[in-house]
Amino acid sequence: MPDILMTIRDLHVAYGKKPILRGAGFDLYKGECLTLLGANGSGKSTSLNAICGFVQPASGSVSLGDQELAGLAPHRIFQHGVAQVSQKRDLFPDLTVTDNLRLGAMRRGAKQAARTLDQVYARFPRLAERRRQATRTLSGGEQQMVAIGRALMSQPTLLLLDEPSGGLSPEFCEEIALLMDGLKADGVTMLMVEQNLKLAFRAADRFIVLRDGLVVDGGDVKAMEGDHDAIIKNIYL
Ligand SMILES: Nc1ncnc2c1ncn2[C@@H]1O[C@H](COP(=O)(O)OP(=O)(O)OP(=O)(O)O)[C@@H](O)[C@H]1O
Ligand SMILES: [Mg+2]
Repeated sequence: MPDILMTIRDLHVAYGKKPILRGAGFDLYKGECLTLLGANGSGKSTSLNAICGFVQPASGSVSLGDQELAGLAPHRIFQHGVAQVSQKRDLFPDLTVTDNLRLGAMRRGAKQAARTLDQVYARFPRLAERRRQATRTLSGGEQQMVAIGRALMSQPTLLLLDEPSGGLSPEFCEEIALLMDGLKADGVTMLMVEQNLKLAFRAADRFIVLRDGLVVDGGDVKAMEGDHDAIIKNIYL
């Protein structure tokens, strides 16, 4: 059995009276990439937001080892090593690439941050060339790299990625997949939401499917041997 990094149990989230998560639960193994699948509006982003504290769960548990994260403020959860690249990216358009990246290292010392900035630029040479440009002048794909790079600046234990391929070209999806291979080799655990199933299955070790606020399916990607039709039916029908 692989080591467990995070255990999510019986998670309930509602917006007003509308329940979205109704007891969702799953484990995350150390060093894996897990893909969360589900129809539009099924609560995928809500799940990531509940884990990183952007949304307060009504009940349930998100435990990282002995540490209970459910109910903590987002900055406290971030201090425990959980960073999200959200669907909207949330960059500061008028700040330079370097300044946006530096914001990700707020919880760390200046020396360490400078070293990590060099590492992020080594991972993303395209950003290194554009380090002094205002972030709004970058292409969509480059901005997504800034968003991922900013999350990496905190050297997260768990990286949450919400639709990293959103609106980007197939070439860029391959670039993201390669990046994720690199992060996995470095031992970063990832939980990804991804509608692009090609990327989802290319990058992930395991998948789970969310429906009606519960995890209804899941398995090992390699064991599927490319037979994804059954999963797809389970997601969208
Ligand atoms: N802050 C909010 N206030 C009210 N309702 C919300 C809020 N955020 C999300 N919802 C609703 O909760 C449901 C689940 O939203 P969520 O964003 O988690 O879905 P999703 O699975 O990520 O969908 P998508 O694939 O379209 O990104 C949707 O019906 C959405 O309208
Ligand atoms: Mg979403």
